[in-house]
Amino acid sequence: MISMLKLIRHHKPQNLSDRVALAFTKSLRFLADTFFKKKYGHRAVVLETVAAVPGMVAGMLLHLKSLRKMQDDRGWIKILLDEAANERMHLMTFIQIAKPTLIERIIIMIAQFIFIFMYLIIYLISQRTAHRIVGYFEEEAVISYSEYLKEIEDGKIENIKAPEIAINYWNLPLNSKLKDVIEVIRDDEAGHRDVNHSFANIINIKKNTNALKEDKNKAQEKI
Ligand SMILES: [Fe+2]
Ligand SMILES: [Fe+2]
Repeated sequence: MISMLKLIRHHKPQNLSDRVALAFTKSLRFLADTFFKKKYGHRAVVLETVAAVPGMVAGMLLHLKSLRKMQDDRGWIKILLDEAANERMHLMTFIQIAKPTLIERIIIMIAQFIFIFMYLIIYLISQRTAHRIVGYFEEEAVISYSEYLKEIEDGKIENIKAPEIAINYWNLPLNSKLKDVIEVIRDDEAGHRDVNHSFANIINIKKNTNALKEDKNKAQEKI
């Protein structure tokens, strides 16, 4: 398990791209809070179907870019595709814990249709904002799973036996409980958060350096 210091982290918005990403995340959080309230199991099923989209979309776009530009991807594609696969395993786990209602299944289908295009467009417009959004989504995921854990610790949600699929995937002891599963999932989310924030930071540094170079060139032209 990762330390508490590493677990709770917030990237303070530093530019317009960050502020857009944070506002987008907070409005979706508001929607999720209003709809699910304290139904954490159902919330996890629905949100994990969305969480597995960005890594796949970003990985695909970078794969195509790498082919087009005949350029190395610095290992980003594999990291993003692994993230998508890991999020899908979160879903496979939660589906054993909470079965979605008919209305939730309909929401999942509509949400996937909208979100896949939305994220693709955001990624094409601003790769930096797109990664920052996932960074902020994952900050929220860490908060939600911490709340879920608190409900289990307080005995408000039954600490049932861990699903077999989770025991196998995370190599957990055979007598593991739901609480142990939520803890490893929360660690995964914290990992995705740090990766996506650092991807956004790398792009940000690149943009700032390019802008500086341009300014320098313009200044030299004037002399
Ligand atoms: Fe997840
Ligand atoms: Fe996630």
